[in-house]
Parts: sequence; C-alpha cells; structure tokens
Amino acid sequence: MNRVLFATSEVYPVVKTGGLADVSGSLPEALCRSGYDVHILLPGYPSAIAAARKAGSRRKARFSIGQYDVSLWRTRLPGTAVTLWLVDCAPLFDRPGNPYQNDEGEDWWDNAHRFHLFARVGVMMAMGRAGLSWVPDIVHCNDWQSGLIPALLNSCHNRPGTVFTIHNLAYQGLFSWDMFRALGLPDSLWRLEELEFHGQLSFIKGGLVFSDQITTVSPGYAREIQSPEFGYGLDGLLRHRQARLSGILNGIDTRQWNPEDDEHLEFHYGKDHLKSKVQCRTRLQQELGLEVNGAPVLGFIGRLVEQKGLDWLLDVMPPLLERGCQFALLGSGEARYEEPLKRLARGWPEQVSLTLGYNESLAHRITAGSDLFLMPSRFEPCGLNQMYSLRYGTIPVVHAVGGLKDTVFDPSEAGMNAANGFSFRDPDAASFLEAIERALDCFKSRKTWRRLQANGMSADYSWKQSARHYGELYQEILAQRQPSLQA
Ligand code: ADP
Ligand code: GLC
Repeated sequence: MNRVLFATSEVYPVVKTGGLADVSGSLPEALCRSGYDVHILLPGYPSAIAAARKAGSRRKARFSIGQYDVSLWRTRLPGTAVTLWLVDCAPLFDRPGNPYQNDEGEDWWDNAHRFHLFARVGVMMAMGRAGLSWVPDIVHCNDWQSGLIPALLNSCHNRPGTVFTIHNLAYQGLFSWDMFRALGLPDSLWRLEELEFHGQLSFIKGGLVFSDQITTVSPGYAREIQSPEFGYGLDGLLRHRQARLSGILNGIDTRQWNPEDDEHLEFHYGKDHLKSKVQCRTRLQQELGLEVNGAPVLGFIGRLVEQKGLDWLLDVMPPLLERGCQFALLGSGEARYEEPLKRLARGWPEQVSLTLGYNESLAHRITAGSDLFLMPSRFEPCGLNQMYSLRYGTIPVVHAVGGLKDTVFDPSEAGMNAANGFSFRDPDAASFLEAIERALDCFKSRKTWRRLQANGMSADYSWKQSARHYGELYQEILAQRQPSLQA
C-alpha cells in the first residue's frame, strides 16, 4: 500500500478558515478508502494540540531545527481513522487568532519562519529523518504554506514523489530578500527560475517549480491560471509546466453535508421528499428575524474579500430588496464590505440578516433554508458552497468562472434536462442581476424549479471519482521515479 504524506495548513474539524480545510478533512479519508495509507501533517495550533490531548494522543518524536525545539504528536483526525501528525513548536504555533493572522486580522509577522519550519519538518518526515518508522512514497502539498517542501526536497537523493495542489493562486506567500536570508535557504534558490519573484521570496513557487505534478481544484481553473487575467504573474511559469499541470475537481464531504440527516437542521429532506425544505426556510426566517413569508430567500456565505464579488452583491441588493427578496448573509472579512452590508441590514431589518463571524452550524441552516445561493466570485478555483447548495436543492446563481463554471449549468446553455442553476459571464453587476432575475422568474414556476432542484440533487459530489484521479497521478509519479531510484 502506497504511503502519502498530506501537508496542509488547515483541516476540518480541527482548524478552518476556508475550503482548504474542508478538502483536507475529506480527501485524505477518500484516498484511504481507495487504498492509500494517507497521513496528514498540520502545524500544532492550540486547537489541534488540545484535540490531541483530549484524545489521549502522545508525542512520538522530538528534535531541534535551528533555534527551535520541535516535537511531533501522532493523533487521529476526529471522526476518522486518518492519522494526523502535529508539528508542536510553541513559539511559532501556540498563539490565538487564526492560522495566518492575529485577532486584529493582521498577518503574523513571522509567517515565513512558521511555514519554513513546517516545511523542514515535512522534509524530515519525507526523508525518514524524523525518527519515525513511517516514511511516505508521495508528499502531497497544498498552497503556499507547504510550498517550500518540494523546493527543499528537490536536492535530496532518493526523495519521495511530490504533488503540489493550488487551492488559490492569489495567495503566494511573498516575503523580502532579508527574510530569505534570515531563513537560511540555500543561495542557489534565489533565482528567477526558482524561488525569486520580482525581488521577493515566493513560497508558492517552491511548489510550482519543483513538484513532480501540479494540480489545481477544477479543470476550469487549471486553464484560467495559464492566462495573464487569472495567473497573478505566474501564468508564464504555469504554461511552461503545462504538461505537469492538471485540474481535479474537488468533492465534498457527503456525510457532513447531507439534507437527509444534517445534525444542524431541525427538518430533513431529500430529492424525493422536498416538502420539509420549506420548513427549513421558515425556521431560518424565524432564527434570523426575517419576516416569515413566501418571499425568496437569497443566501450568501463566505469570506468578505474582493475574490467573492462583494461589490457586485452590494450593487444588486437594493433593487432586489425593492422587489421583496430577503437575504441571509454570513461571513467575515474586510471592513470595506462589512460596513455597507451592516448599513443595508439596518435599513431593511425584515429583509436582510447579516451575521458577521464564523458559524459552521448557521452555514448549514442557510444552505438548507435559502431558495437561491449567490456566488458572484470574481474568480473561484473550485468553490464548495455551490456544491453544498446543489445537494440541498438550493439553486446557485454564480459567475461562470473556475470551478463554478464546471459545476453549475445554466438552462440557456445546458437545457432544462441538465440545468441546475444560473450563471453569468460578463464580469459586472448588471449581468449578475440579470441572472438572478432569470432565476426569480423560474422560481415562480414550481415545476421548473423542481426540475432544477432534482438535477442538482441527483448528481454525485462525493470524492470517489476525484480520489481516483489523484490515485492515478500518484501512480504516474511513482512509475516515473522508479527508473531513477534503481539507477
Ligand atoms: P474559500 O476557500 O475560497 O473560502 P470555498 O467555497 O472553497 O471558498 O469554501 C469556503 C468554506 O468555508 C465553505 O465550507 C463555507 O461554508 C465556509 N465558510 C466561509 N465563511 C464562513 C463563515 N463565516 N461561517 C461558516 N462557514 C464559512
Ligand atoms: C480555495 C479556493 C476555493 C476552493 C478551496 C478548496 O480557498 O478559493 O475556490 O474551493 O480553496 O480547494
């Protein structure tokens, strides 16, 4: 059985800021089911160490890296049989806030040190130098936080194969030349072809330049990031590595996200018994202080950042409120979006509910209780919320980019037999509004709406197929590495 070390900076349910946690919490288990021995490697944030202590787990190794004493805890990802390794280094990881920022929303000043150390531990495990009996055949890295692993492994003899998955190219882990020196990285890495990016150190380039295979989280985004529009300055490098780049669509955790027995819902329903979905809406309206009536409820959940198309959402809300629509909004992020949303919620208290902050349970109730789910993202590598809403019979209205384009099919293009939502192409608020209006027209016809819901609810969003694709990729890497290992 091949062994895979899955390095990630967040994993649900231990620590989560976005979709990377959802993927890290469900893909490894799916890979285990398809015959891989997958272990997760995660920084030892306070919530993670606390969960390990609670589970009665122990430290399995201790060593020093530079000035830091490090130990490795071996525990299990709660609710699964997947092994989870925690990098315990209190000065770097034992702090409040989220994995990347303090409570004021500022990046930790020493993020480069934190994720450099994380990478060094990954390399020790990969090379069998951490004093453990378990050594991986493949190291699967995710986003910039684990980008230095493939870079540092590159010079190691008989190293395992490496995969780097891009969840979001907009976050690159850029730091100064001084930081590059402070980390003590080999001088040879400071080259345009390696880690240097316009005079800065780029962690993500470590993954893009040095890994055996690069993946991203949808076929659509794999194509887009090779263009200047979506490439964030890295499109040239990605075109250069085109032959090693593929898009594998994310799956979702179909146990956590199942309207038939969702623990966060009072009423349950499924594709052949949708009646209770209306009760979910009524309960949501009551919970959020919205007027209880038959008006369509439009849901939005997400980080309040430019990527998510908040400016377009702010533009379309007033005309839709005039028509009686209701909004159930959940998120947190930048003040420039929070403030105008707060004003709208104050101005339209019976039609707009805004919950600032992170609330997993409410996210489930908004997904179930809304009629439409809005995702006007400017770009979206995959997006999970549209898949959650499709599974819950809540019709998504999305910008046709990245993974949204790969999962949401508009009647005007797909026909009623395949349509499951609405999408718009032009990157502006007017097109978004037009797509919502088309959705609202359909909403009036029960039969058409049911058709859309049934199409969405009967599709397979599980990890099964995507896990198979990752497995094929691992095998390809192992087969290619075999001759060099024998040489
Ligand atoms: P991204 O990773 O870009 O934030 P995704 O759609 O891939 O976008 O995943 C976002 C995940 O985070 C989803 O599971 C979504 O429900 C969740 N989420 C985002 N913001 C919140 C919030 N404020 N409260 C609860 N869940 C949230
Ligand atoms: C990123 C992307 C999102 C994707 C998630 C999981 O945060 O923004 O589109 O679904 O990673 O891959």
